[in-house]
Amino acid sequence: MPGVSLWRARYSPQEQRGLLDAVLANIAHAPFYRPVMPGNAKPFSVEESNFGPLGWVSDQAGYRYQATHPVTGKAWPAIPQALLDLWDAIADAPPPQCCLVNLYREGARMGLHQDKDETARTAPVLSVSLGDDAIFRIGGETRRGPTKRLTLQSGDVLMFGGVARLAYHGIDRIKPGSSTLIPGGGRINLTLRRVKD
Ligand code: SIN
Ligand code: FE2
Repeated sequence: MPGVSLWRARYSPQEQRGLLDAVLANIAHAPFYRPVMPGNAKPFSVEESNFGPLGWVSDQAGYRYQATHPVTGKAWPAIPQALLDLWDAIADAPPPQCCLVNLYREGARMGLHQDKDETARTAPVLSVSLGDDAIFRIGGETRRGPTKRLTLQSGDVLMFGGVARLAYHGIDRIKPGSSTLIPGGGRINLTLRRVKD
């Protein structure tokens, strides 16, 4: 698909463990919490945290970026160097300002959506998968258009930008137990984005 790139096994199993260690060290300072949908306050099935100067959050008031964790009130931890290096290597854009961290335990999913809370849309969206396999779906700029499904596995890197920057995408489901990487099971997705120019 134009604007969409996939690097299978960009991280070796050993590199995945190293990246996971860096992620979990940060999570000790910025714990996963469960966001709720704007308006109806329905809890997400994923748990989230963020790294970097800005974090993406959702609550009853809406979606937005903010500099602090909504539960602890503290600044988000820094984006791990390995992820900044990855961005440098493949993104061709100024550094990311947000790393959204999604934790999918068994049964968690993410409905089709566009990443459009950013004004910096010339930069791509870069996503790293760790842990269980996930059925990822991506389409075009309308919710109803055709979509493609692909299985994202631990160590895979997906990037969408340019004509695909506003592509609808989501996670239909994960395959519980397909990986033993994440303590307690499941999948962690790291999404790097530039937020504002
Ligand atoms: C997202 O779109 O925020 C997450 C995508 C993923 O988990 O792969
Ligand atoms: Fe997204």
